[in-house]
Amino acid sequence: MADARPFHWEYRPEPVAREVFRIDGGQPLTGMVTISGAKNSALKLFAAATLTGERCRLTNVPEIEDVRVMAETLRDLGVVVEHPADNVYEIASGDVEWLFVPLEAAARMRASFILLGPLLARFGRVIISNPGGDRIGRRPVDLHVEAMRTLGASIDYRNGYYFATAPGRLRGAEVTFPFVSVMGTENALLAATLADGHTVIRPAAQEPEVDDLISFLQAMGAAVERTAPDTIEVDGRKRLRGAEHRVMPDRIEAGTFAIAAAVTGGRVILQDAPCDDLAAFIEILRGVGVGVTCGPDSIEIDGAALHAGGYTARDIETAPYPGLATDLQPPTAVLLTQAAGTSHVHEAIFEDRLEWTTEIRRMGAKLKLTDGHHATITGPSSLVGAEVEIGDLRAGASLMLAALAAKGTSTIHGAHHVHRGYENIEGKFLDIGASITRDAEGTTVNDS
Ligand code: UD1
Repeated sequence: MADARPFHWEYRPEPVAREVFRIDGGQPLTGMVTISGAKNSALKLFAAATLTGERCRLTNVPEIEDVRVMAETLRDLGVVVEHPADNVYEIASGDVEWLFVPLEAAARMRASFILLGPLLARFGRVIISNPGGDRIGRRPVDLHVEAMRTLGASIDYRNGYYFATAPGRLRGAEVTFPFVSVMGTENALLAATLADGHTVIRPAAQEPEVDDLISFLQAMGAAVERTAPDTIEVDGRKRLRGAEHRVMPDRIEAGTFAIAAAVTGGRVILQDAPCDDLAAFIEILRGVGVGVTCGPDSIEIDGAALHAGGYTARDIETAPYPGLATDLQPPTAVLLTQAAGTSHVHEAIFEDRLEWTTEIRRMGAKLKLTDGHHATITGPSSLVGAEVEIGDLRAGASLMLAALAAKGTSTIHGAHHVHRGYENIEGKFLDIGASITRDAEGTTVNDS
């Protein structure tokens, strides 16, 4: 543990196969899409499975790149990760020999940092890369680290790595966050399940994925409860057992396909979509003029108003749950380009989540950035196909939505980013009548 070698000196990002989507837009999308399991739940459930040496079984796991990265990262630690069928994973963390999460994992997926809490709690030590490398300011994990210290861990930061130890056991404590953090809450929660004593986490994130994690932990024998909307309490146990869990549906994927129906003036049924988890988003859709009908396990989206009277502009603001999810801000902004009047977008959670708007302007959207957190959209715009570049996961899905709404052909480079979080996205769009192809660009790049 005292070894302070700068592990990342030799680090080079792994080559990523570049892909390109070509989309002929302007056709209404109609039919049914089955929503996959939630990325932001599945990754945490994999981490939770390391809290026991017994076998855990996860079903409805989305077949996406981030899940593959998490599975590989765990295998590198010595965890047995099997994939016996599509969407099913079995994880057995009996012998973990190598308590080291390298920069290679962190650079590919920020969520690898969720392994800090469970590995520290179960094995008493871990060396884990800072997901932002040395760029601490931009993608901070300070809340996670402070939470572990509150639970009794010693953590040093050297050469881009956190060296964390907790000889004996972590100790239950009051973990108080200065503001809500989803993964911060989850890391503290995972660690506290094996700590000695009682832990109170406040303010705890209220995202439904946190509750999916709580259900799995309860099935593993953990004494965890949400005792108030913003409070989670945990009585630490000496050990947890193996369990089986079905990953909850992905509300962000559901929201993305809802916008696809809306911006093309189509009609799409989202099967297995969680209406309750999308309340703030659905309220915005209805306010704009999109028809939304909630069934017991499906949502029907009707975009008929696009061509009959049109949609109406609306101001939106992202917020922690139950507010509008920041991950749904880019898709919602695409919808607002099709609404008459001026809409203001306030991205309150992240500083870089409006950067994607540069690319949609190439398609003819009238969108002005005031600063890193605010944009103004004037609509409706007749979008036209263009050549654009995807910078990250959510931006990528939104450029696909804009291309589906646009007249003519769009060429969207950087398609591989979208596979990080969406299972078979082009197949699902094809099923509802989109004209879309995906090809290799013929080159590979170092792209982290
Ligand atoms: C999770 C989701 C992500 C979603 C986000 C907000 C996963 C894998 N990712 O990310 O898709 O967009 O919630 O809903 O579940 N912050 C700090 N210090 C920290 C941690 C966070 O300053 O230690 C800041 C962040 O920069 C951000 C805010 O807190 O401004 C909220 O981020 P957080 O809720 O922690 O997001 P993630 O859990 O990383």
